[in-house]
Amino acid sequence: MDNEYSPVELAKGVYWVGVVDWNLRDFHGYVTPKGTTYNAYLIVDEKIALVDTVKSHFAGELIKQIQKIIDPTRIDYVISNHVEMDHSGSLPVLMRLIPNAKIIATKRGRDGLCQHYSSIGCKDWNFEVVETGSELNLGARTLMFIEATMLHWPDSMHTYIKEDKILLSNDAFGQHIASSHRFNDEVDDVMDDAAEYYANILMPFGSQVLKYVDTVKQLGIGIDMIAPCHGVIWRKDPAQIIAAYGRWANAETVPKVLIIYDTMWKSTERMAKAMIDGISATGVEVKLLNLRKNDWSAIIKEVLTAPVIAVGSPTLNNGMYPSVAGFLTYLKGLRPKGKKAVAFGSFGWGGGAVKAVEKELETAGFEIIEPGLQVKFRPDEDDLRSCREMGGRLADMAEGK
Ligand code: FEO
Repeated sequence: MDNEYSPVELAKGVYWVGVVDWNLRDFHGYVTPKGTTYNAYLIVDEKIALVDTVKSHFAGELIKQIQKIIDPTRIDYVISNHVEMDHSGSLPVLMRLIPNAKIIATKRGRDGLCQHYSSIGCKDWNFEVVETGSELNLGARTLMFIEATMLHWPDSMHTYIKEDKILLSNDAFGQHIASSHRFNDEVDDVMDDAAEYYANILMPFGSQVLKYVDTVKQLGIGIDMIAPCHGVIWRKDPAQIIAAYGRWANAETVPKVLIIYDTMWKSTERMAKAMIDGISATGVEVKLLNLRKNDWSAIIKEVLTAPVIAVGSPTLNNGMYPSVAGFLTYLKGLRPKGKKAVAFGSFGWGGGAVKAVEKELETAGFEIIEPGLQVKFRPDEDDLRSCREMGGRLADMAEGK
C-alpha cells in the first residue's frame, strides 16, 4: 500500500520525505494527543544527501517516500543530526541499501550510533565526523553543520543549507502534531504546540538553548525556513520560534497562578476553589488543574510561563497522593527556573502530604514563598478564608508585587 502522503518540495531539490505517526499517544512519557511526524529531508544535487531517518518500523515508508523522487541507492550521504531512535531507527535498514554511503555526524553522534547499532553493522559504516562550521559541498549546494548540544541530547546537531537558507533543526523548534499539512501557516495553534514541546522536551536545557541561539547569531546566517524533525515546518516568519525559544529559555512568565492538585473526598478541592476565589478577585488569571483530569504534558506547558504555582494533595498513608508524587517527579526532571510555589492539602490524622509536597517543590528548584496550608478532614469557614487570603497573596506575587 502506498503512503497516504507524498514528498513536499521546500526549495528546488530539497524535499520533505518524512512520515506521519497519526496514532502516537505517548512519547517517552510525554502525552501526545495529536500524534507526531518524523521528518526526514532529501537534498538532490550532484551528490544526494538524506538528512535524518525515521523510527525503525516506518523504514519502509521512508524508503517509499524517497523512491518517489530518486532511486534510494543513489544516496551519497546520510546526515545523522541526532542519535535518538525516532531519527536514527531506520539507519540499519537504509545502510543495507546504501552500504557505501557516508554517515555525517558529530563525534558524540558517531559514538552514540555505534553504541546503539553495534550488533547490526555500525563497524562497517563509513563515518565523517563534523563540528560547528564544518561544510559539505553537494554541487550547487553547501551544507553547514551546527552543533546543538542538549537540543535534545549531547550529540545533537543541525544542518544548514546555505544557498536556500533552510535550517534543518532536528528536535529543536518541533511540535508533536500529526497533520496532512507541512507548514506552520497551514495549521492552527502551532505556537501553543511548540510551547508544549519545548516545556516537555527542552525546558531543562535553557542555558544550552541560549548558547545555541548565540552561536547562530555569531555565525551570521540568514534563516528563511526552519525545518524540524517533528511537526510542521516554519515557513512563515521563522524568527518567531527562535524568539519564543529565547523567552522560554530565559524563563519569562506572564501573570498567572496555577493550582495543581488532586483530591480524595473533595477537601483539598474545596481549598483549591477558595484559592481561586481569592486570586480571581484580583483579576489575575488562574487555572485549576486536576492531575487526574489533565495530561501532565499540558500542565507542564502552563508551568513554563507561570511565575507561581500552588500544589495541593490530600494525605494518603502519611504521604502525598500517588498522582501528586508522580507529577512532582516529572516536574523535578524538567527543572523549571525562577518560579515560586506553595503547598496545601488536607489530612485525617497523621498528616504528611503538605510537608512532602514542599520538599519535592524545593528539590525541583521552586522558592517556597510561605508555609503550606493544611486542614484536618474538611475545611471550615476560617480555613476557606485562609485559602482565599493565600490566593490573594499568590496573585500579588504573580504580578510581581
Ligand atoms: Fe525526536 Fe530527541 O528525538
